[in-house]
Amino acid sequence: MDSILINGWVRTRRDAKAFSFIEINDGSCLKNLQVIADAGLAGYAEVVQKLTTGAAVSVRGKLVESKGGGQSWEVTAEEVTLVGAADSTYPLQKKGHSMEFMREISHLRPRANLFGAVFRVRSRLSYAVHQFYQDRGFVHVHTPIVTGSDCEGAGELFRVSTLDPQNPPKTEDGAIDYAQDFFARPTYLTVSGQLEAEVFACALGKVYTFGPTFRAENSNTSRHASEFWMIEPEMAFTDLEGNMDMAEEFVKYLIKDVRENCADDLAIFGKFVDKGLLARLDFVMERPFQRVSYTEAVEIIAAADKKWEHPVQWGDNLQSEHERFLAEEHFKCPVTVYNYPKEIKPFYMRLNDDNKTVTAMDVLVPGIGEIVGGSQREERLDVLEANMDRHGLNKDDYSWYLDLRRYGSVPHSGFGLGFERMLMFVTGMSNIRDVIPFARTPGHAEF
Ligand code: 4AD
Ligand code: MG
Repeated sequence: MDSILINGWVRTRRDAKAFSFIEINDGSCLKNLQVIADAGLAGYAEVVQKLTTGAAVSVRGKLVESKGGGQSWEVTAEEVTLVGAADSTYPLQKKGHSMEFMREISHLRPRANLFGAVFRVRSRLSYAVHQFYQDRGFVHVHTPIVTGSDCEGAGELFRVSTLDPQNPPKTEDGAIDYAQDFFARPTYLTVSGQLEAEVFACALGKVYTFGPTFRAENSNTSRHASEFWMIEPEMAFTDLEGNMDMAEEFVKYLIKDVRENCADDLAIFGKFVDKGLLARLDFVMERPFQRVSYTEAVEIIAAADKKWEHPVQWGDNLQSEHERFLAEEHFKCPVTVYNYPKEIKPFYMRLNDDNKTVTAMDVLVPGIGEIVGGSQREERLDVLEANMDRHGLNKDDYSWYLDLRRYGSVPHSGFGLGFERMLMFVTGMSNIRDVIPFARTPGHAEF
């Protein structure tokens, strides 16, 4: 090409006798473009020879076949313009910074190769989510971010209020009077769009939400964020079996899409983050997930010759150590665990005929543990009301939700896929803080 303009940031400059090599990256892909700037160029000494790592530049020139190794094309510059200088205090001079340091410079880390790759894959993965559901006739629903209900019943809610925290209005018995708050009721940031998605599934058939979710859960792990994104499909006329099939198809599709469309970026993860990544992704894509009931899972864990931090009995929640054992050591592949004890699961899950378990299902994957959580929903009004009583919920608050069971109720199912956990899985990145642009975790909300 005789005339090309490139805008980007200088990664490195090397000077030879009669010219300089400048490596420029514009963020569109992992690879840099090599520019050769001849010493005869106007402004060579003032501009080119002063270009430093991190500086923004514009280069006009010719795109030509490269005779050197390492690249097929290069640019011979005809004009180099310094757009924005970066001096020696630019933090990304050298490679080999710790992940912790990179988090402190979350405003600059997208310019590092690894993080550029993470966020390009994130974008592609998001596109693939929409493509998967749109291709299958699902309708995208924007569920509200401010809600009045605690879908998961775990009480991990961030309150949304405009009341003066110094001097809130009080009721006669001294409690804060939320009737005087902005929405005239207590409101929170949503922990899940599921309940509203159910409304739309029971009208449009197959729907999905994809939005931010918030949990005020004080767990400082590498897999929990206080603000994360979740994809929640919801399907009318679908039982637990259909739900498990859909989750498996979805996870495999996302892997395949990223594998095909982000090859260069995945290669850097395979090289620097997790050597086994690509082989694992291929393995997961090609084989059926294992399916075991919770009861079988507990038996497998109890029979394992291992010392557990939390020994497990029927009725207990599975801990991360158990989930990872199942996926990493016992089955050595993703596992879908279903039919959990009703006591440890939310009110909306369908009660099984044994009267002890509900139609919950979790997909567990090696390296992460739970990546999907879902269930068939309780569609029988009387059983749902009994569940709500058991969970101590006020049925008046959920009358709209109960109406779905009063009018044209159908068996329906859905699940939530944690978007960042999926991104961790496809990139091999081991901390959720490193796959979200600006992480919000307990004690941290910079930027
Ligand atoms: O299992 P969870 O809590 O399920 C629900 O919220 C259901 N209402 C979903 C549904 O049926 N529509 O969350 C679903 C997934 C988890 O499997 C996990 O991948 C992710 O969301 N997740 C988190 N990801 C990051 N940080 C957190 N604190 C997360 N909590 C859940
Ligand atoms: Mg869960």
